[in-house]
Amino acid sequence: MSILITGGAGYIGSHTCVELLDAGYEITVLDNYCNSCPEALERVKKITGKDFKYYECDIRDAEGLDKIFKENNIEAVIHFAGLKAVGESCQKPLEYYANNIGGTLTMLEVMRSNNCKKIVFSSSATVYGAENPVPFVETMKTGTTTNPYGTTKLYIETILQDISKADDQWSVVLLRYFNPVGAHESGLIGEAPSFPNNLMPYISQVAVGKRECLSVYGDCYDTPDGTGVRDYIHVVDLAKGHVKAIEYVMPRTGVEIFNLGTGNGVSVLELVKAFEDANNIKIPYKIVEPRAGDIAYCYSNPEKAYKVLGWKAEKSVKEMCEDTWRWQKNNPDGYN
Ligand code: NAD
Ligand code: UD1
Repeated sequence: MSILITGGAGYIGSHTCVELLDAGYEITVLDNYCNSCPEALERVKKITGKDFKYYECDIRDAEGLDKIFKENNIEAVIHFAGLKAVGESCQKPLEYYANNIGGTLTMLEVMRSNNCKKIVFSSSATVYGAENPVPFVETMKTGTTTNPYGTTKLYIETILQDISKADDQWSVVLLRYFNPVGAHESGLIGEAPSFPNNLMPYISQVAVGKRECLSVYGDCYDTPDGTGVRDYIHVVDLAKGHVKAIEYVMPRTGVEIFNLGTGNGVSVLELVKAFEDANNIKIPYKIVEPRAGDIAYCYSNPEKAYKVLGWKAEKSVKEMCEDTWRWQKNNPDGYN
């Protein structure tokens, strides 16, 4: 029996592979490497000392997927595979809908035809939109996404809820991630974007000398220091949340939604300062215009995950900064 990890060579996927292997699970990984490389999976083997099979496969390739299901005894899927750049999704909506939604539909069909009906899905805090008050709770109304990427998450959540309503054998866990940052403490795996769209990767690329200066997107928000407040969560804590989600999804049916966040809001300037203090490096920054579509506050109420899954985030902002920097300085060009 094996857990199939789609998009397992990616940032969150590779960290989740480590935690699943450490917890004693057998895993099978697939990825088309459009935003990753097999080296990440070799490093997962190095960290854990455990072996597993991985396939180069696209989730839109029904035949390829079916072969993986037939060759391995897959009992559940953790579904990370997808495109995730918000800005790019506004320029290439068709590609985002085809890859994320089309790919998910193909994969769900192959799952069903192989009688595998247990899935943990990577959703996002973005589904809470701009209108809900913080902290975000799972019971809040969703449906006000502002970009195609966010809309793919919302639609996939809806699709999974619908198939579960129609067929009560399905067991679905929707995980809404807040802002994953950090890296495995070994410094062997981490996030390696060619262009950093998000705050922590940008800070660490400034630190390593690849970018000159951080642009802080606005200091006029209605927050204590005027900069945006987010719920940064260490990727290893997030990965551990997936182990709990798999334990939960296995013996059950139905749909359950969980926030995976810390519940703490941290501003842009607080994160910059924390990175500087943790690593003794100066991060030059300038205040620029706010980024379109940004909101002032985004943080979770993570109580449900604690009550139901027995999971809570444990790592501090300092550890997020230290681990990001260890990865970045040991691998200035990512896996290349
Ligand atoms: P990532 O890009 O590092 O990982 C995604 C992986 O999926 C990559 O390895 C990519 O090559 C693969 N992939 C993409 N399309 C594929 C396809 N058609 N077939 C097979 N493989 C494909 O991203 P990540 O940060 O690890 O995110 C993982 C998941 O979590 C994504 O679904 C993302 O939308 C979601 N998520 C991420 C964040 C975040 O801030 N990182 C926040 C919320 C949700
Ligand atoms: C991003 C995604 C969102 C996703 C979330 C969780 C975008 C536009 N949105 O949002 O869909 O759900 O991550 O992973 O990518 N900032 C700067 N300078 C920078 C980069 C960011 O000041 O160079 C600020 C932002 O304005 C924001 C904060 O830092 O206030 C965090 O930004 P980012 O890391 O992009 O995450 P989110 O805005 O939460």
